[in-house]
Parts: sequence; C-alpha cells; structure tokens
Amino acid sequence: MKKILAVFGTRPEAIKMAPVVKACRACPDFEVKVCITAQHRQMLDQVMDIFGLKADFDLNIMAPNQTLADVTCKVLKGMEGVFAEWKPDMILVQGDTTTVMAAALAAFYHKIAVGHVEAGLRTGDIYSPWPEEMNRLIAGNLATLHFAPTKRSAENLLRENKPEARIFVTGNTVIDALYDAVAIMDGNRELTKSFDEKFGFLDSSRRLILVTGHRRENFGEGFIHICNAIKRVASRADVQVVYPMHMNPNVRKPVNAILGGLENVKLIEPLDYLSFLYIMRKSYLIMTDSGGVQEEAPSLGKPVIVMRDTTERPEAVDAGTVILAGTETEAMASAAERLLDDRGCYDAMARAINPYGDGLAAKRIVDIIKTSDF
Ligand code: UD1
Ligand code: UDP
Repeated sequence: MKKILAVFGTRPEAIKMAPVVKACRACPDFEVKVCITAQHRQMLDQVMDIFGLKADFDLNIMAPNQTLADVTCKVLKGMEGVFAEWKPDMILVQGDTTTVMAAALAAFYHKIAVGHVEAGLRTGDIYSPWPEEMNRLIAGNLATLHFAPTKRSAENLLRENKPEARIFVTGNTVIDALYDAVAIMDGNRELTKSFDEKFGFLDSSRRLILVTGHRRENFGEGFIHICNAIKRVASRADVQVVYPMHMNPNVRKPVNAILGGLENVKLIEPLDYLSFLYIMRKSYLIMTDSGGVQEEAPSLGKPVIVMRDTTERPEAVDAGTVILAGTETEAMASAAERLLDDRGCYDAMARAINPYGDGLAAKRIVDIIKTSDF
C-alpha cells in the first residue's frame, strides 16, 4: 500500500485538498493521513468541519501577525517531526502558500516524493503575487508529479523543462469542492432556510456586491486604493456591499478605517464555505483579489473584477467573465460602475463557464498516483 500524506495549512488549500483526500481515501491502494500546519487556524477549522476532514497531525503554527520566515521555519521543523513518526511514500501539497513551499522542501530533505496539486500557474513576476509566485516555483522544482489544472499551466511547466511524463492536466480541484458544496446546499432545504435567516440583512432591492481581499502585495497603498474604490461604488443607492474580512490584521486595519460605519457596506467575519457559496450565488458581481474566488465565480456565472495588477489565472479573463482591473481606485471603481450601468456588458460577462475544471480533478489525480512509479 502506498502511504500518502496530504499536507495543508490555509483556508484555500483545505478547500482544494478536501476532494483529493476524499478520493484518496476511497482508493484501497492507499493508506492516507492528513497533516495540517494550521498556518491559518479559525479560517482553516471552518473548512475542516464542513468537509468532515480530521487531522492526524496538527503543527498548530499560527501566531498573530507572524512573519513569512516564522511560518517557513515552523513548517520545515514541524514536518521533520511528522516524518519521524510516519514516513509517507508521497506528500501531496496544493497551491502556492508558504506551507506548500516549506512542506515540499521538508519532504525533499527526507527524500519523499511530492505531488503538487494546482501546479504551473505563473505570472512571471516573482513579486506579484508575493510570495506566492516564488512559493509555487519552488514547489514546482521539488515536485515529482505535477497536477496542472489547465493546459496553459501545463505549458508553463513544459517551458521550464519539467519532464512531460510527470505533468498531467487534471482540472482544478476547487471545482470538485464547489460541486460538493452545491450538492450539500441544494440537497438540504433546511440549510438554505437557515442561510436565508442568517443573511436576513441582505436587501433584495439592491444589487449585492461581494468583496474579499488579502494579497500581501496590496498591503499599504494598494489596500487603501481598494477600499476607496469600494467606498465610491458603495455611495450608490442601488447597491449593497458585503465584505467578509480576512483575518490578517494588515487587511482589517484599512478596511475598518475606510469602510467601517458606511450605511450600505456590511463588514463581516470570514464565512464558512457553504455560507460563502450562498452569498456568492446571491451576488450581482464580485470584487476580489482572491485566487480561489476567481476560479469559482465563472462557474456560478458571476462577473468578477480582479483587484490586482497581474493574474496567474488568465483563462477566465480570456473567456471574458473576469476583468483584471489593476489596483488604481479609478480603474476598479469604474469597472464596477460599468457592470452596474451597462446591461449588455453585464450580460456578456455573466455566463457560466468552467475553464478551471469539470469536477473530476481529484479522481484523475488519484488515478495518476495509483499508476505512477514515483
Ligand atoms: C495566506 C497565504 C496566501 C493565501 C492566503 C489565503 C502565505 C505567505 N500566504 O495569507 O498565499 O492566499 O493565506 O487566505 O502563505 N490569521 C488569523 N486567523 C486565521 C488566519 C489568519 O488570525 O485563521 C491572521 C494571523 O494574525 C496571521 C495572519 O492572519 O498571522 C496572516 O496569516 P498568514 O497565513 O501568514 O497569511 P495570509 O495573509 O493569511
Ligand atoms: N472563502 C470562504 N469564506 C470567505 C471567503 C472566501 O470560504 O469568507 C473561500 C472561497 O470560496 C475560496 C477560498 O475561500 O474557495 C479562497 O480563499 P482566499 O481568498 O483566502 O485565498 P486564495 O484563493 O486567494 O489563495
């Protein structure tokens, strides 16, 4: 039996790894364990609960406002302890966080194979997203198997001379997770009713703009621009803004300072995944710098304004359902205003497309690992 250890630490990794853990567990050829670094704590635990994930190892590394070096050192050292206790044949990591980079490096130090889920996304700029572009490059260099979500991400890896036989286009597991969540929601009327109550503050006479943001390269000036753009759009009487705030204190400070107390801006705590899905579905448009949200929203037919200067997810931009607006207040606000005022423009964007997957990515990944001689 192959021993597989899934390692993850933040909210998006947990969401995107949940279907992979589920598919691995369904495979009789594998013995599977889960290690969480808990780079995130509350935001990670929310996901664990919803997808019924249980950790076999919990490094519990989160500390308030810690540095990137703190995270890296704690994960590297923590994984050493895990490998001393249980040495897997392969670890699986997902994405581009510091957990991914450090866990992959720890595995390399122990000559353990690494399967990289969501491999090959690139902007070509190591400072945007920062530090994620470099994290993903490093993980890519350490990986034995590369699970690229799209053809384009696979091509990026080929350009970097990664062996073709080790690169697989699987789709993004976020779509598997999204379909699982939709099935849970739609199969449970009580749950939907409870969300109707929980979100009773939503004003159906106004169009809902859902906002999220947390990118480090936007901290400081960038976040002030983002908040000012939201403030300008929120000054219209025909919209309501809901902003589940990321727990990073560098995000909360400017958001509270600029948007706190505005009549039609509701600042709320991070939502569990099902609640977030409910509110995505209710929204008219989404303004975000999040990677995962850029991938989910096209599937739900929701136009997205990406508040970043670069994106490693060009597929939905090319398909016309996502706008890369940059980080200037004027550009972000006017992109939103256009979608609010120009019905033709809105309708052209609000089409459900799935450039990131078909919901079967996790199964493909498991089949590949099963037959691989890594
Ligand atoms: C991290 C990832 C980023 C990913 C994002 C997803 C890195 C360097 N960053 O960014 O790639 O897109 O997660 O959300 O890997 N905090 C809490 N509770 C939580 C989570 C965070 O209090 O549940 C606070 C803590 O003060 C923590 C800080 O946020 O120190 C920053 O967390 P960290 O994981 O270092 O970075 P993120 O900005 O969350
Ligand atoms: N999400 C969530 N609750 C929220 C905000 C986002 O469950 O309040 C989900 C979202 O649907 C997506 C993921 O979290 O799947 C994105 O996480 P985040 O934006 O923190 O990280 P990124 O994707 O940018 O790395």
